[in-house]
Formats: sequence, structure tokens, C-alpha cells
Amino acid sequence: MTNLTKSKPFQRVITFVFTAILITVGLSMILDSLRIKFQKEVDLNKSEDSSHDGLILHDSSSDNYDKSGMPYNVTYLLPQKRIRTPRFEPVDDRIHLQISHVPKLYQYALDNKIDIPMKLLYFHGSERQWYLKEGQTYFLKEKCPVNRCLVTYKQSEGRNADAVVFLNPFTLPSNPPWPRRSVDQIWAMYSLEAPHNTNSASGYRNYFNWTMTYRRDSTITTPYFKFLYYKQPLPKKTIETNLAIGKTKKVAWMVSNCNLVRSGRMTYARQLAKYINIDIYGACGNKSCRKSDPKKCYAMIKQNYKFYLAFENSKCLGYYTEKFPQNALRNNAIPVVLGVSRAEIKAAAPPGSYIHVEDFDSPKQLADYLHRIDKDDNLFNEYFRWKRYGKMTNTKTWCRLCSMLHEKSLPSVTQTDIDTWRSKSCIGARKWGY
Ligand SMILES: *[C@@H]1O[C@H](CO)[C@@H](O)[C@H](O)[C@H]1NC(C)=O
Ligand SMILES: *[C@@H]1O[C@H](CO)[C@@H](O)[C@H](O)[C@H]1NC(C)=O
Ligand SMILES: *[C@@H]1O[C@H](CO)[C@@H](O)[C@H](O)[C@H]1NC(C)=O
Ligand SMILES: *[C@@H]1O[C@H](CO)[C@@H](O)[C@H](O)[C@H]1NC(C)=O
Repeated sequence: MTNLTKSKPFQRVITFVFTAILITVGLSMILDSLRIKFQKEVDLNKSEDSSHDGLILHDSSSDNYDKSGMPYNVTYLLPQKRIRTPRFEPVDDRIHLQISHVPKLYQYALDNKIDIPMKLLYFHGSERQWYLKEGQTYFLKEKCPVNRCLVTYKQSEGRNADAVVFLNPFTLPSNPPWPRRSVDQIWAMYSLEAPHNTNSASGYRNYFNWTMTYRRDSTITTPYFKFLYYKQPLPKKTIETNLAIGKTKKVAWMVSNCNLVRSGRMTYARQLAKYINIDIYGACGNKSCRKSDPKKCYAMIKQNYKFYLAFENSKCLGYYTEKFPQNALRNNAIPVVLGVSRAEIKAAAPPGSYIHVEDFDSPKQLADYLHRIDKDDNLFNEYFRWKRYGKMTNTKTWCRLCSMLHEKSLPSVTQTDIDTWRSKSCIGARKWGY
């Protein structure tokens, strides 16, 4: 998150040479780490060294951690670089590290029964928007290792809070509701939406310190799930069932936004529907499932469907939603992915758990493959083999915010231009170039 400084001509030449070297070295490192990551995914039996609660961290670059899995340098809690958009780079998401991080002084106070002052987190908006109770409830309920934090929605308290957090699916006020008071107050923007479904942050230039978005190079990255490996694979018999049994229908899709969709998902789905039966629930189709009772909708998918279209409304770096884990995987339907790139979903999802549209030359080819799986239960069940080896875990966003607020030795960070950082990472309906 550094500003580029203006340089004189001779410095530019030197900078150019250095940049060229860095890019070459960087590229080979990226390729290496990609290769390592892919090997890890294939080699399901191999376990890694750091473990917490019997779970193994999936994708940390272990160089950054000491043996206990804790950072030996707190700067590792922060993203080590910004991703050059719109290309995916295997930047560590640091989720596991941030959840388990207990600042040294905090630990010392705990050990010596010294009272630890609460950090006050002001959330702009209402409890209804944030689904977070006022007070310490969340931190206790989630058993955060660092739990001395309080949530408030009262603006009068916000001015002096330790953190001021804004939600942004069109809810960010166009200008800061009050001028920043102290350099120690952390201003953060939290958004799970793609950039064009959010308000511009242009009124906040140099205001925000931390970002909390789906992007891996956010200060606190907030995906819908984190896949972690078990220390030991589960015994085979515990999960060896035929998950295709009873499923008589093929593709389901719950979708309510059919217009102004930038990813081209409607066009693709219409093509696909020529070759395989797709049941579309919601405003864009002719099937309905009461939104007021999502559990019933999920149960219906689980019982009947083999595939679920996890088609996002935009193609933005790192952007995928609950469609993948919640609508598809959890209901034993194979997610068919459109939106996020292959490289990126590969880095996040359980190995072998999904089908990506860009692995096929045409919707027809994809349909042929889906028909093949439909006829072959063994092939279908292959897509759920990962269940023996790991599980989706809660990413405990607010535990992480709490622990980082208590970390006194984090370097200070300022976001100079959130808008550009986010919007430049979207590619319209094009194919990802990698
Ligand atoms: C994984 O381990 C199981 C037994 O624990 C073994 O049967 C299987 O061959 C191993 N698979 C690989 C790919 O090493
Ligand atoms: C931690 O890492 C940062 C960035 O890599 C470095 O500047 C700093 O000197 C390191 N601190 C310690 C104590 O190693
Ligand atoms: C629903 O739409 C599908 C595909 O567009 C069509 O084949 C089917 O006949 C429709 N069903 C009803 C009840 O309109
Ligand atoms: C937060 O951002 C402000 C404004 O740029 C800056 O002055 C301050 O040092 C930052 N604080 C932290 C703790 O990062």
C-alpha cells in the first residue's frame, strides 16, 4: 500500500531495470508457488505442519510462520502486496493467521490477570444491516482468541471509537459523517459486493486505513468460506455414500437479477439451456421457491439437483459469493462456476469440487459433460471426495478485526484510492486471461 513517489529521470532508468528484474524473479516465484499449490491440492493425503483444533491450514506460505503458526513479525497480518489487477496472484489470505493472532501484550495481560481495556467498534448503520448484536456478544459467542471488543451503533460513541466501520452495498455516505479525529482511530470499509454495486468512496480519499473485502489483498479478506484440511483424512466409511441417490433433476439456478448483469451469465445460461434442462428459480425463470423460507429451497436443491449454477453477476478479481458454498456445495450439488477465474477459485475451493465454464469451449461441450456426470454416479461422487479431507470453515471476520485492533505494533496504513483498486479489477463479460 505504498504511494509511488515521483522520481527523477536517472532514477527512472534504475527503477526500470530493477522493476524488470523484480518482475522476472516475481513471475518465477509466482509460477513456483502455483505449482506447489496445485501439487498440494492433488496430494490430498499429505498433511502440513501447523495445526489448530485438528485442522490444517490449506494455503499459507509456511515461510511466513513460525512453528506454532503464529507470525513472528506482525506485518504478516497485513497483505504483503497489492495484486496487479486484473490478474490473480496467489497472495496469502492470512485468515487463519489473523484469527489465531494474540498480540504479545494482550497475552501478557491475560497471563497476569491484568485487566485489558475494551476496543470500541463503531459500525455505521444499524444492527439490522450488520446482523451483529451490540456489546461483546459476537466475540464471546465465536470464542475469539482476542475478545475484548464491543460493538456500538451509536454515532455519539463512534467519534471516539477505536474503529469506525462502513458497510458498502450502496450504504457508504458520500462524505465522511465526521472528520477523522485521531490517527489511532482505524477507519475501515467493509464490502462483499462487486464494485458497481457499491457507492463510490471518492469522498474518502486518504481516509480509510483498512479494507475488508473479498479480495485477498484486502487488509482483512472476507470470503464466504475458508477451506481447511483435516489433520488426518476421515475414515472412508464415514462419508462413503452415493450422494447422487434420489437426485432426479439436473441443473438448478436461483437468480433474481436478470438485467444489467455484467458477467454475461444470462447469455451463457440461455445457450446452456438449449442442451440441458435448467430449472430457474426466482424472477428470471418460471419456477419459484419462497425466499422467506430459504431452508426449504436448499432442501429442495439437496434432494433433487445434481448441479447448481454458481454464476456471479460480475467478473471481478476474487469475487465469488455464497452461491458456491451455500447454494451448491452444502446441498451436494456440483457448482458450475462463472464469474471468478479458474486460478482463483482453484486456490480457494476444495480440490476437485466444482466445474468451471471456462474449462469448456462452448456451452454445448459443458452440457455434454454434465450429461456424462449425470449418467455416472461414480463420477458425480468424485466431486465430493474432498469431504474426507477437509471442510469449509467460518472466517470469523470480526474476531480478526478485534485481534488486529489490539495489536499495537502494526504499521499504519492508509488507502489512497479504494475505487480504482476495486473497479479496475473487473473485466466485463470477457474470459479471464489466465
Ligand atoms: C491416501 O491414503 C490412503 C490410506 O490412508 C491410501 O489408501 C491411498 O492410496 C493414499 N492416496 C494417495 C494419493 O496417496
Ligand atoms: C517485519 O517485516 C517488515 C516488512 O517485511 C520489516 O520492515 C521489519 O523490519 C520486520 N520486523 C522485524 C522485527 O523483523
Ligand atoms: C418454463 O420454462 C422452460 C424453459 O424456458 C419451458 O420449457 C417450460 O415449458 C416452462 N414451464 C412453464 C410451466 O411455463
Ligand atoms: C489511518 O489513516 C490516517 C489518514 O491517512 C493516518 O493519518 C493514520 O496514521 C492511519 N492510522 C493507522 C493506525 O493506520
